[in-house]
Amino acid sequence: MILTASERSASNMRSMNFAELHFHLLPGVDDGPPSIDATVELARAAAGEGTRTIVATPHVNSYYSIDVKSLPERTREVAARLRRERVPVNVLSGGELAPERAGDLSQAELEWIALGPPGRRWVLLEAPFTGLDDGFAVAAGGLRARGFAVVVAHPERSLGAAELGWQVLERELRAGSALQLTAWSLAGLNGEPARKAALHLLHANRLVAVASDAHGAARMPALRLALDALTGLGERDARRYVASVPHALLERGLAARAPALAA
Ligand SMILES: [Fe+2]
Repeated sequence: MILTASERSASNMRSMNFAELHFHLLPGVDDGPPSIDATVELARAAAGEGTRTIVATPHVNSYYSIDVKSLPERTREVAARLRRERVPVNVLSGGELAPERAGDLSQAELEWIALGPPGRRWVLLEAPFTGLDDGFAVAAGGLRARGFAVVVAHPERSLGAAELGWQVLERELRAGSALQLTAWSLAGLNGEPARKAALHLLHANRLVAVASDAHGAARMPALRLALDALTGLGERDARRYVASVPHALLERGLAARAPALAA
């Protein structure tokens, strides 16, 4: 595909802006903002950091009984309100899928929370805080068998010292999964084990995105905090984790494929 100069410049501009792939933006559906006013404040704070794209990723798990089919319409309502409030962010519909729900969702429901272009759609799959285990591996494999690639949500918060977790994650990396690390983890706010694991994973593959996993007043957007932490560590191209990588995942997607054999 050959782009014109203005298309190239628009694409470059987009890739300079931050994009949040994991963000609890929808009001009153999970442990995110309780009201639309809180949603507007959260989005405004993200815009203030330089974010221009937010994927709304409510919990799709067995605790919050979210009707997945309603998410695109709820997202449109939030986007319309943000336009009226002149908050300059583009909002996309997604979800943070818990492994225990992955097998329950129909193909259409998975499509409603998947991102990326046709043929390269991916789902944000939550790494449980109890650890990356066989349940996660089965869920991720099941998604790939149904044509969806996987972006692993905050693996650094699940790894600890458990050998099994690292094995599960290595298998995901061999399957081409991307990783989403949480801004607070890089800044040390989720504890030293999570920070160490996040720094270890930062260069695990090309496709590592950093996101705030914002939830409202208790966890506000934190991409600037992550950038400061990464820059302080001498990371030369820290912006790629909050701008070009998330944009690449949204625009070019991911291929779902079986894991390559371990070397
Ligand atoms: Fe989350």
